[in-house]
Amino acid sequence: MKKVLVAGSTGYIGRYVVQELKNRGYWVRALVRSTEKIKQPGAHLEPAIAPLADEFFTGEATRPETLAGVCDGIDIVFSSMGMTRPDFVHSAFDVDYKANLNLLRLAMKAGVKKFVYISVFNAHHMMEIQNIQAHEKFVDELRASGIDYAVIRPTGYFSDMAQFLNMARSGIMLSLGEGDKRSNPIHGADLAKVCVDAIEGDDKVIEAGGPETFTYREVAEMAAEVVGKHPFVASVPVWLADGIAAVSGFINRDIQDVALFASAVSKMDSVAPARGTHRLRDYFVEMLNMDGR
Ligand SMILES: NC(=O)c1ccc[n+]([C@@H]2O[C@H](COP(=O)([O-])OP(=O)(O)OC[C@H]3O[C@@H](n4cnc5c(N)ncnc54)[C@H](OP(=O)(O)O)[C@@H]3O)[C@@H](O)[C@H]2O)c1
Repeated sequence: MKKVLVAGSTGYIGRYVVQELKNRGYWVRALVRSTEKIKQPGAHLEPAIAPLADEFFTGEATRPETLAGVCDGIDIVFSSMGMTRPDFVHSAFDVDYKANLNLLRLAMKAGVKKFVYISVFNAHHMMEIQNIQAHEKFVDELRASGIDYAVIRPTGYFSDMAQFLNMARSGIMLSLGEGDKRSNPIHGADLAKVCVDAIEGDDKVIEAGGPETFTYREVAEMAAEVVGKHPFVASVPVWLADGIAAVSGFINRDIQDVALFASAVSKMDSVAPARGTHRLRDYFVEMLNMDGR
């Protein structure tokens, strides 16, 4: 039985990857920062990992001294570890680049055979964003390392689309630009299948999105329809969003990253090869039912 270390196991994708690995008969060690989160499901319907993983390793990947032995006996490392929202302690480089590099070095020392990493779809169109630079700097290290590897490049996750549902509930829908750019967001369970296929296959770069493509305006309308409200739509022109992003850079680089990323995706289509079966409307309904609102 092959042994996999999952880093990012408490996050949206990591939880589904732990589940998918177990479904396919792997032995799983989950790297966690604390065991507090493992018993609870995630906020976007992703599963609790306490009953799934075979072993938990508690460590801070930004501090290599806490990781001794984390890759011992492991065949494959999967990492979706990344800073998706500012924590005001670490930078994107600390987590997306350096913490993943700490793991890669330990993996190589321990004789791990393959390292599978999640970056971002269309990254080369967004290289002005620090978070994307950090992802891609790690991808460069991975490519140069000599270890067998795969890089997954997904579009947006269903967990991110939940923001539209929250805005619809609040009665105010923020719309960036015309809302006419298209994307095919992907459910965590569908992406987890892509990730485990990558562990088992030979492809080095795998781009993946969900089975349905929408404009952002269509996603907003769907969220409003599911919630049963007609929210007030506040349109923010892209030039204003760019101005806000520029100013926020004086406050915090990671907040600026969030603003730059939102602006970047509002200006281009993000449609990747379609994978999976989960439909966004079903997800919105499920989220709404879970919250009982
Ligand atoms: N969201 C999207 O639409 C999207 C699209 C394409 C690519 N991606 C990329 O996919 C990856 C996973 O996304 P996700 O939505 O699953 O993220 P997530 O839910 O925020 O999970 C991130 C994971 O990284 C860990 N982490 C964060 N900061 C850390 C730190 N300082 N030290 C150690 N671990 C840390 C988290 O641990 P804790 O639980 O302890 O905080 C968690 O396990 C990210 O790299 C993201 O950039 C996301």
